[in-house]
Amino acid sequence: MEEFLILKDIVKRYEIGKKKNRNVTEALRGVNLSIAEGEFVAITGRSGCGKSTLLNIMGGMDRQTSGEYLFRGEKIDDMNTRALARFRNQSIGFVFQAFYLAKELNAIDNVAMPLGYAHVGSRERKHRAEEALAAVGLSEKLHARPSQLSGGEQQRVAIARAIINHPAVLLADEPTGNLDYENGQKIMDLLHRLHEDGLTIVMVTHDLALAKQADRIIHMEDGRPKQVLSE
Ligand SMILES: Nc1ncnc2c1ncn2[C@@H]1O[C@H](COP(=O)(O)OP(=O)(O)OP(=O)(O)O)[C@@H](O)[C@H]1O
Ligand SMILES: [Mg+2]
Repeated sequence: MEEFLILKDIVKRYEIGKKKNRNVTEALRGVNLSIAEGEFVAITGRSGCGKSTLLNIMGGMDRQTSGEYLFRGEKIDDMNTRALARFRNQSIGFVFQAFYLAKELNAIDNVAMPLGYAHVGSRERKHRAEEALAAVGLSEKLHARPSQLSGGEQQRVAIARAIINHPAVLLADEPTGNLDYENGQKIMDLLHRLHEDGLTIVMVTHDLALAKQADRIIHMEDGRPKQVLSE
């Protein structure tokens, strides 16, 4: 297997407060994990077991306390802030439970936002944003602002934004958590389609029925993957 995404003995400790009030949480306690290119992996586990922490480290949004993170053979730990920002922008797409769209921007401008950092001209930005919105089935809503869209549609805009730079991996943290069953399944269908087109996906979910739709389930317990439930 070609080296794609490898985590070795990843530990993440959060320290809150000072002196007597100091409190240390070990959110990740030695995670060893490798993900193959083109895989669709679901991460499940109880609240607080470290799922979001793990995803944030994979996405370069947070750094581990110790351990090694290799992405396509490159050590992410060694990157300076600037290289890390480029890694996030070019290699990673991120989708969250709460969509995080800019309220004042329409769908095109929300989706085009990551292209600003990649120095793409305005016509090209618009064109690519329209393409990404078409890919998520929102060609009719190009000029709608988030308040004019349903929850499911807002999440599709967020997914279009996440894939606009053609990332190597899509990291999705409870992408269906704010949606009803039907809209959640629509988002899953969209993720399946992107996966079939070759995108590697890592999705956190509480919903075992959704997790079972992935190639592999990683069940986290107390800051570590526990067991593989299916292949
Ligand atoms: N920024 C932070 N500062 C301090 N502690 C944190 C921070 N982020 C997370 N934690 C703690 O780390 C542990 C793991 O949190 P994490 O958010 O990764 O859990 P989770 O599995 O995503 O939970 P949920 O299913 O509720 O989203 C928890 O005990 C949490 O309180
Ligand atoms: Mg979480």
